[in-house]
Amino acid sequence: MKLLHIDSSILGDHSASRQLSHSVVESWQATHVDTQVVYRDLASDALGHFSAASLAAAGTPVEERDAAQILEVQSNEATLEEFLSSDVMVIGAPMYNFTIPSQLKAWIDRITVAGRTFRYTESGPVGLCGGKKVIIVSTAGGLHVGQPSSVGHEDLLKVLFTFIGVTDLEFVFAHGLAYGDESRANAMAAAQKQIKEALFA
Ligand SMILES: Cc1cc2nc3c(=O)[nH]c(=O)nc-3n(C[C@H](O)[C@H](O)[C@H](O)COP(=O)(O)O)c2cc1C
Repeated sequence: MKLLHIDSSILGDHSASRQLSHSVVESWQATHVDTQVVYRDLASDALGHFSAASLAAAGTPVEERDAAQILEVQSNEATLEEFLSSDVMVIGAPMYNFTIPSQLKAWIDRITVAGRTFRYTESGPVGLCGGKKVIIVSTAGGLHVGQPSSVGHEDLLKVLFTFIGVTDLEFVFAHGLAYGDESRANAMAAAQKQIKEALFA
């Protein structure tokens, strides 16, 4: 079994989502000993914006691609293959300015690919990624669960993963992290409890 672990926080050792996503992976490994973990740090090894050049590279016949286009296509294909070949995903997803980090968005732009992770039919879009389990660690300074302010973060991630066919989607929340030391400690403890007791019961 292959687990793809992604972090996207820019806060390094101070990151709450990194701490929690690592706990999720540890707990998963404790109960699934045959798991092979692949790790991608989108902050230290950031993908560029998906751009006009990215599109042009993909649309250029293989034999006509220049060196930059070859690298772009190779990198995008490797990112997509890494996702497609995973059975389980753990994503550290902090909220920055009411949405996901742009580094995580750049990754999403590489894995949301017509014909590979979804396709359009006469009756609408069909997701091609059923069978994967996705666990998202959502961290935020404020409190957004069940609030309109979750639209660009939790709701966006739900729409995206549902669109590509993922039905087994779970969230671990640690919100209210900026509301003082006690609130932060409580939110982190509750998230760790959810990871240990609810997620892997
Ligand atoms: C650039 C930046 C933007 C942020 N924007 C928001 C925001 O819009 N709403 C919010 O509740 N918290 C916001 N925060 C607080 C983070 O969500 C909080 O620090 C959380 O711990 C981030 O997860 P991380 O520690 O894994 O990076 C922001 C933090 C940063 C650094």
